[in-house]
Amino acid sequence: SVVEVQHASPTRPLIAVSHRGAAGHAPENTLAALDAADELGAETVEIDIQRTADNHIVLLHDTTLARTTNVESVFPDRSPYLVGDFTLREIKRLDAGSWFAPSFTGERIPTFDEALDRLERLDLNLFLEVKEPALYPGIERAVAEELAGRRTWLEHNPAWEPRKLIVQSFDWDSVRRSKSLLPSVPHALLGRVPEARIGEFTWAHMINPNHTTIDAAYVRRVQDAGLEIMPYTINDRQRMDHVLGLGVDGFITDFPDTGQRAIADF
Ligand code: G3P
Ligand code: CA
Repeated sequence: SVVEVQHASPTRPLIAVSHRGAAGHAPENTLAALDAADELGAETVEIDIQRTADNHIVLLHDTTLARTTNVESVFPDRSPYLVGDFTLREIKRLDAGSWFAPSFTGERIPTFDEALDRLERLDLNLFLEVKEPALYPGIERAVAEELAGRRTWLEHNPAWEPRKLIVQSFDWDSVRRSKSLLPSVPHALLGRVPEARIGEFTWAHMINPNHTTIDAAYVRRVQDAGLEIMPYTINDRQRMDHVLGLGVDGFITDFPDTGQRAIADF
């Protein structure tokens, strides 16, 4: 007789999400980093977004421009260089590549719009981190409007392809607002949701904690609630092997090539 096995959810392949574009190989959150991720064979990239003074969404990890651009030499009197104090036109004057390596001199901070164009052309999946949303009231709606004009990101069936686009944040209220604006898009909570609270977040698709804060019991607890778990940011091969052994669904890494080798060998 035929025994039918019922699975709670379809089994999905493990993935290595390429962090900030591919931060180990190119200046983080630039178009060059998206190209590098693609060239390294990544299928999915993570990027961070913030908002300019004139309401453009741009790719940037920090709330200030100081670490990853030459803003201090171009605008010496504009300390503390908050991205929200600069217009897009001003930001486009900055070099976002030379701090990483001279060969990337002239790389610019991309807008979210420009990044989506490039991701579509490269056919890359996206983990979109909304950074410090409390500084940018309404940013969730601006993101939803940008995506709504681009059918690529919303026209798949998330039940079968949940990793095409994930919107995530450390600000769980922001994630909830985004989910209500983009109900068909899977969302992720960043950080370690306390075990007793995981049940409050079954509307989300995943919980992505720092890799140093999890063990096998926590991974199982998240998955038993029906959620996926992909910890950040793991750059060491031994550490990759360790978290794969904990049973995670994937992980986030600056080195997607190393990550994919670890998955292939697992
Ligand atoms: O994707 C999660 C991870 O990127 C969070 O840490 O500081 O690199 O944005 P951070
Ligand atoms: Ca991030």
